[in-house]
Amino acid sequence: MKKFPLIIFLFFACITQAQNTIVIQTDQGHDIINRNIYGHFAEHLGRCIYDGFYVGDNKKIPNKDGIRLDIIDALKKLKVPVLRWPGGCFADTYHWKDGIGPKDKRPSMLNVWWGGVTENNSFGTHDFLNMCEMLGAAPYLAGNVGSGTVQELSDWVKYVNHKPGSSPMPILREQNGRKEPWNVKYWGVGNEVWGCGGNMKPEYYANVYRQYATFMTDWNDNKNDKIFRVASGANSSDYNWTEVMMRDIPHEMLEGVALHHYAVIDWNKKSSATEFTEQEYFTTMKRAWYMEELVQKHSTIMDKYDPKKKIALFVDEWGGWYDVEPGTNGAFLYQQNTMRDAMIAGMTLNIFNNHADRVRMANLAQTVNVLQAVVLTKEEKIILTPTYHVMEMYNVHQDATLLPLAIKSDMYQLGEEKLPAVSASASLDKSKVMHISLVNIDAGKEREISVDLRGTKYSAVTGRILSSAKLQDHNTFEIPDKIKPAVFKGASISGNMLKVKLPPFSVVVLEVK
Ligand code: AHR
Repeated sequence: MKKFPLIIFLFFACITQAQNTIVIQTDQGHDIINRNIYGHFAEHLGRCIYDGFYVGDNKKIPNKDGIRLDIIDALKKLKVPVLRWPGGCFADTYHWKDGIGPKDKRPSMLNVWWGGVTENNSFGTHDFLNMCEMLGAAPYLAGNVGSGTVQELSDWVKYVNHKPGSSPMPILREQNGRKEPWNVKYWGVGNEVWGCGGNMKPEYYANVYRQYATFMTDWNDNKNDKIFRVASGANSSDYNWTEVMMRDIPHEMLEGVALHHYAVIDWNKKSSATEFTEQEYFTTMKRAWYMEELVQKHSTIMDKYDPKKKIALFVDEWGGWYDVEPGTNGAFLYQQNTMRDAMIAGMTLNIFNNHADRVRMANLAQTVNVLQAVVLTKEEKIILTPTYHVMEMYNVHQDATLLPLAIKSDMYQLGEEKLPAVSASASLDKSKVMHISLVNIDAGKEREISVDLRGTKYSAVTGRILSSAKLQDHNTFEIPDKIKPAVFKGASISGNMLKVKLPPFSVVVLEVK
């Protein structure tokens, strides 16, 4: 075989690699990455609440007032900042007064959206809000607009927030065992009102919203602790929805607008959560990357009406959605979680971080046993999913200052289609330590990245990586730690230039000092 001179080999090596560059302005940060971007969502759906968070009086599973303590411990390590409840579609069928008072006297209902199972209301307002206190997470309540009344939602606000003894609702709260209010700040005014929440048109809903919001009264006079009302938002690319919300709702009664987007291949033909082809993986990545365009375009509409960015964009449902696990109830949306999900999580959280000026909350759907869950349970056992580990690795970004970052990534190509292979975000925490989160979604190729750190002197880098041998790899109840973060040895620093080697389909978080 003819030998190539070394110099020619190096030349080709240079032009085939190192196409990935990142420049970070380390002294130019101004927006704070709201910790609520790392929020979660828990619906009365399948085994998320019952046989998930809540095990009632099951003595075999350690619990406090029915709440599983192993789940609480795991979620505390994630630093879950906010938890949305009770739905989803369930929220617009839920009557909160059915879920207070003695459990044996609570009426039952049918959970019409999720399998027609009986909901006995044993997990209600007190259970949820006390659980949020255990977690140290802010609650985000979704009010029933679709089948409820203005009075009902207004009463819920008073029940959980108003001062002891100030009116019939706080008196009722006290009779049910809780004197002090919980002071719930975040309130959704309906959920998906364009669909399961009432099939409304945006102009009609904007009027309904104004009516509901009028009667959602604050609980104290502290200007920094005001009620935060969120309009039910667009389905993915329904930009007209956001336009109408921003145009027709007076801004003094609107603190946030929501957006829902799931990374689903095709609503009629999703894909197995664990046995998928590279083509299915690629399409999921494409749907996940689409979040970037959605956030940009919805933000541009919001900028037109609210250039000072007072109103927040809440992506209060996001994540991967596949076929349910074989043999499980089709309406329970129980799915496994692989390295594909780790890629969705890493990439999407980078998108949210980089848009921290407008995206101030996001809620991954859903915390336990449903869709892209961080925890799966089977009787006494729990497992932490790859998505859990990404959320845990990324929690260093919570409340840190976003650093401006310019990225040039080469492409992950499959057939004729291409996607940027590398995504990144960077922040500076309160002790001036920088964190950079990097994702390489390419199923086959390592990516070498040069990171130019401008503005501050740095000399040390350490990191953690989440990777595995196969994209389809996942944790199971038999092998719960197959995928977990490891020490990352693929980064070096010299004269403010970082060199990083990212293996295929991996997530890395670097700490730079
Ligand atoms: O997260 C599952 C469902 O997806 C929610 O109930 C609904 O809001 C959305 O369509």
